[in-house]
Amino acid sequence: MADPDILINIRALDAGYGGPAIVRGVDLDIRRGKMITFVGPNGAGKSTLLRALYGIAKSYSGTITYDDERLDQSSALDRYARGIVFVPQGRCNFGQMSVAENLEIAAHRIPRAERKAAREHVFELFPVLQERFTTLAGNLSGGEQQLLEMGMVLQTRPVCLLVDEPSLGLSPKMQADIFANLAELRDMEMTVIAVEQNVREALAVSDEAAVLVQGEIVMHGPADKVVEDEGMRRAYLGG
Ligand SMILES: Nc1ncnc2c1ncn2[C@@H]1O[C@H](COP(=O)(O)OP(=O)(O)O)[C@@H](O)[C@H]1O
Ligand SMILES: [Mg+2]
Repeated sequence: MADPDILINIRALDAGYGGPAIVRGVDLDIRRGKMITFVGPNGAGKSTLLRALYGIAKSYSGTITYDDERLDQSSALDRYARGIVFVPQGRCNFGQMSVAENLEIAAHRIPRAERKAAREHVFELFPVLQERFTTLAGNLSGGEQQLLEMGMVLQTRPVCLLVDEPSLGLSPKMQADIFANLAELRDMEMTVIAVEQNVREALAVSDEAAVLVQGEIVMHGPADKVVEDEGMRRAYLGG
């Protein structure tokens, strides 16, 4: 029935936190195994749309369909069980615990017998976490902490990674590394949905982009087309 290339289908979605809708009338198809980035001004509702996909902002009306099943009213835990993971903005690992302990805590829902393999999988993705295995998370560089955040959720080998401003607060070099890592996950056929303020850098590795303004998608298309758009350049990229 539905297009097999589409993992998530969003139709007429209104979402928020119990008050007025923050995200309004969103229609979007998210392609399987691709990377899409939400961009737009501060307060546009990018994080809220991402949270609505994970079920921590509320879908008021409209639909979110995931692999042909309705998702919009299911819990975050249910979405996690179905292969969607969420990395919120900011670092929220436990700074006073080691990389190993942080990974272990995040693996508590994985059957015990599979945890070692899950961790190995993360070390293959991000070898630096293996090198820093016994280091306190709080002593990692910002970029390494972001990799730890992602590593913690990637232990479950998710289908879809939702990540909010992963490059925030990182040096340009570390930002470039994070974007390269996201592109690598996408190349491994993970569906990556990111929110980013570093528009040019993020869109350089994205397949698609959606621009949000005041809770609505005002532009959506291939990332290279969006980045070339005149209005977009004027608004976000300094001409
Ligand atoms: N937990 C919350 N409860 C109520 N309103 C919120 C909450 N989080 C964000 N908002 C409001 O939603 C709007 C959009 O915020 P957000 O989705 O964080 O935008 P963006 O990520 O694009 O900067 C803002 O007006 C913000 O104040
Ligand atoms: Mg945000």
